[in-house]
Amino acid sequence: MALIQTANLKKTYQLGHVQVPVLRGVNLSVQPGEFVAILGASGSGKSTLLHLLGGLDAPDADDFKLLFDNRPINGMNAAQLDQYRRTDVGFVFQFYHLLPELNVLQNVTIAAMTRWGWAFSSRRAEVEKRATELLRSFGLGDRLRHRPVELSGGERQRVAIARALINGPRLILADEPTGNLDRKTGAGIIDILLERRKAEGRTMIVVTHDPELAAKADRVVRIVSGVIE
Ligand SMILES: Nc1ncnc2c1ncn2[C@@H]1O[C@H](COP(=O)(O)OP(=O)(O)OP(=O)(O)O)[C@@H](O)[C@H]1O
Ligand SMILES: [Mg+2]
Repeated sequence: MALIQTANLKKTYQLGHVQVPVLRGVNLSVQPGEFVAILGASGSGKSTLLHLLGGLDAPDADDFKLLFDNRPINGMNAAQLDQYRRTDVGFVFQFYHLLPELNVLQNVTIAAMTRWGWAFSSRRAEVEKRATELLRSFGLGDRLRHRPVELSGGERQRVAIARALINGPRLILADEPTGNLDRKTGAGIIDILLERRKAEGRTMIVVTHDPELAAKADRVVRIVSGVIE
């Protein structure tokens, strides 16, 4: 059974009086543990699709299917949707989106804080231990107290990946995770993602223009004219 499944998924943006159809009926099934790369021209709707899959935005109210583990994401109430975004899904973005005021360790633990809410204080030690272990395994053991501005792009992206992994998500959604990095650094980031995925059996959907990344995927799909080719 697919971990994530869509049928006839559509997204239209409203720009003033103009309707801009971006996704025109996307059908996609991704199996547990699978690594799918999504390719497509700039503006073809790749980021839009990831946002819908991750519950960050809602598709058009048309007849569609959007299932995670056989549960309709669109049928979740606000609390369930929050839970889905925080614990089932880990997001990695092209520009890291780290919080500049927080140090490396805090940037990772804050994701667990939003998950646990008021119960976080009783879990702080455990979360910090796990965050430290993750960051060490990414070669950032001596950067824990640094601010993002003191890190290189590749280091920042490794912090962002640790943040995405801290709550043990079953699905990783990454939007051009190597788009802002040089080739060698990008390859290192891919290897980190792939190692974790293999070790922990995670499912990964990655939007990329990077042929090296796409070549490592189990399957490559292409968005053309708002549908998957
Ligand atoms: N919030 C929005 N409001 C209006 N239009 C939007 C919005 N977000 C995206 N779009 C439009 O939808 C189309 C698809 O955007 P999207 O960001 O999904 O493309 P993409 O495939 O990720 O492109 P890129 O490779 O450049 O990141 C674009 O034409 C964009 O202008
Ligand atoms: Mg995009």
